[in-house]
Amino acid sequence: MFGSLRQRDDEGNGTMNMPKDEVWDSETAKAYDTPGTGMFAPELLRPAVDRLAELAGEGGALEFAIGTGRVAVPLSERGVAVAGIEMSTAMIDQLRTKVDESRIPVVVGDMATASAPGRYALVYLVYNTISNLLTQDEQVECFRNAARHLNPGGRFVIELWVPELRRLPPTQEAVVWQSEPGYIGLDTYDVVRQCVVSHHITFDDDRRATLARSTHRYVWPAELDLMARLAGFELEIRSADWRGAPFTADSRSHVSTYRLCDR
Ligand SMILES: C[S@@+](CC[C@H](N)C(=O)[O-])C[C@H]1O[C@@H](n2cnc3c(N)ncnc32)[C@H](O)[C@@H]1O
Repeated sequence: MFGSLRQRDDEGNGTMNMPKDEVWDSETAKAYDTPGTGMFAPELLRPAVDRLAELAGEGGALEFAIGTGRVAVPLSERGVAVAGIEMSTAMIDQLRTKVDESRIPVVVGDMATASAPGRYALVYLVYNTISNLLTQDEQVECFRNAARHLNPGGRFVIELWVPELRRLPPTQEAVVWQSEPGYIGLDTYDVVRQCVVSHHITFDDDRRATLARSTHRYVWPAELDLMARLAGFELEIRSADWRGAPFTADSRSHVSTYRLCDR
């Protein structure tokens, strides 16, 4: 269900306490890129790159959690100067199979706290990745870090799913969101901590099951807007997708553009 679901948790432990560079390890990094399909499908990627290129203009862009450059590489090919911050060296190694440091420089670090040189017209954080920060404080710090990297009037764009708590009946803690031959996707909720663990159970031909899990702190759009205000932003526009479809009560995801207020 979420974008960032390819992490493995082979130890059978919860992912909550795993260092992120172990979660996003080299095996995950090598399997991440699926050129032309999935999240790399041009019909998904092109509108995102179009919108981000428009917002960055000549001012450059910084991607938080740049990963293997799924978005950054095509954005750079449009002529936008792109830099990144990324926690996982394995994901950066995969990026380096495509572009070098002079083309897309990347700082290794936590997007809530790490500094990249320079100031930008745009900071963006896509594919649900703010939910990888597991506390409200870290998520607020992420907004503040975006603000520190922006020129006056710069934009911070976030792509995030809308929490699906309406699918969770009272007293129940788990929801099966996909079930098909060979695969079951199951989410378990801790509504007090505002966390969801996605479990991906894959069955092979020998009837063996493999479990992959990822933990997320889900955030409501209104909570995100308040975090933005704490960091000096105002919501400029929220749409349901990168093409600008209206955001409605039934939208499952959103692209929110925040503008740094004049100080
Ligand atoms: C779903 S991938 C998204 C990668 C890329 N943005 C994309 O759209 O394909 C999530 C990425 O976030 C990175 N990540 C997770 N938590 C992070 C943090 N606190 N700081 C920096 N990177 C982080 C992971 O290492 C991983 O590369």
